[in-house]
Amino acid sequence: MLPKLLILVGAWATLQADILSDKKVLLLPPVNFTIKATGLAQVLLRWHPNPDQEQRNVDLQYQVKINAPQEDEYDTKSTESKYVAPLHDGFAASVRSILCRSHYFLASNWVSAELKASTGSSGTSVMNLSCITNTVLSSHTHLSPYQVSLRCTWLVGKDAPEDTQYFLYYRFGAWTEGCHEYSRDALNRNTACWFPRTIINSKRFEQLAVHVNGSSKHAEIKPFEQLFTLHAIEQVNPPMNVTVKIEETSLYIQWEKPISAFPFDCFNYELKIYNTKNGYFQMEKLATNKFISKIDDVSTYSIQVRAVVSSPCRVSGSWGQWSQPIYVGKEKKPLAEWHLIVFPATACFVLLIFSFICRVCHIWIKLFPPVPAPKSNIKDLLVVTDYEKAAWNETRTEVVSCVEEAGFEVIENSMF
Ligand SMILES: *[C@@H]1O[C@H](CO)[C@@H](O)[C@H](O)[C@H]1NC(C)=O
Ligand SMILES: *[C@@H]1O[C@H](CO)[C@@H](O)[C@H](O)[C@H]1NC(C)=O
Ligand SMILES: *[C@@H]1O[C@H](CO)[C@@H](O)[C@H](O)[C@H]1NC(C)=O
Ligand SMILES: *[C@@H]1O[C@H](CO)[C@@H](O)[C@H](O)[C@H]1NC(C)=O
Repeated sequence: MLPKLLILVGAWATLQADILSDKKVLLLPPVNFTIKATGLAQVLLRWHPNPDQEQRNVDLQYQVKINAPQEDEYDTKSTESKYVAPLHDGFAASVRSILCRSHYFLASNWVSAELKASTGSSGTSVMNLSCITNTVLSSHTHLSPYQVSLRCTWLVGKDAPEDTQYFLYYRFGAWTEGCHEYSRDALNRNTACWFPRTIINSKRFEQLAVHVNGSSKHAEIKPFEQLFTLHAIEQVNPPMNVTVKIEETSLYIQWEKPISAFPFDCFNYELKIYNTKNGYFQMEKLATNKFISKIDDVSTYSIQVRAVVSSPCRVSGSWGQWSQPIYVGKEKKPLAEWHLIVFPATACFVLLIFSFICRVCHIWIKLFPPVPAPKSNIKDLLVVTDYEKAAWNETRTEVVSCVEEAGFEVIENSMF
């Protein structure tokens, strides 16, 4: 008890002494404030404490204010600070010394510095830059079992000359890498880039910096930088090994987590059961990898699952791709389609055969003219066909007859 009391009294005395001395302190701004680009979309701000500052008992802090490209403000005890922002339109910041106590606040004047915007007109920069990442199984098993691929696309700047060529670089942490696999437009200008593997780690919180610069004989091409948040651009893979089993009137559905660096319990799922017979969708949001559904046993179902990384592991992004549909149920869908084609085809074939037979029978009549000469017209054919179909249905196939409109004579045909 006594030691605690002594500490409290001591702290109170120090505080009083601080306040008394601070009252006389005039805070001076830091000196030699510089801003230096240290990487793609990254700067290092540095300053020194003012050598003329009376520093007895004073623990100075600094307040940093970012003025461009976007306003931001933070405090630090250090005399240097890293900051991440697109730099193509320049960068400007100010810093001042501050002294913070519970009851008052002292601050020096601001000192400022800036980085100039990149040269070149902004119409020459790429537009609509967008990137997506995807996790794939690593081919180097001695490293991480997963690796991340990156794909970016953009539009050519509206004022870029026809001979413009663009180059893309990404930075993740301290690593910077240029693209080697470009896709080109009709004028042979790069408009997309593909990195089959990157050092991007989807479990880290850092932003991905992408830089696209360019060159042309006729104009200076202004570079363009953009920061991407990993959870916003990751295209989550579909769940693996979806299996569906029907037992009586229950549907047992099960799947594995997608290919991803995140473990099993980081995923939520959405299940879509589509009844192809009545067109009804059943959608389920699930935190498990199993689901049992009641079904009727006369319908066909198509089943798909998709995944999302859930919030305890990371800020939730968007839903991933749907798995390939799995069809289950009584009548198989492909079979139904097959019937649709085969029945009309058979009917046509039968009709053709009969019209042919009819022609033959007309010739036969001509050869052995019994009664009035047969007329060959469409109406005849239709009557004959209907009659023949009826005959077919009743399986009286041994006798095929031709009906003549004039007089309705029936000619026996023994061809069958
Ligand atoms: C500030 O920069 C000047 C010139 O570069 C240098 O002479 C001086 O020592 C620096 N001041 C501090 C406190 O580092
Ligand atoms: C490019 O982006 C602009 C604004 O961000 C948008 O209006 C335009 O539709 C986009 N163009 C294409 C082809 O996506
Ligand atoms: C584009 O940026 C990269 C990375 O900063 C640099 O190495 C390269 O020289 C630049 N190219 C052009 C044409 O500016
Ligand atoms: C998926 O099934 C295959 C073979 O059936 C198996 O080798 C693989 O390990 C399974 N994947 C998962 C994630 O369980």
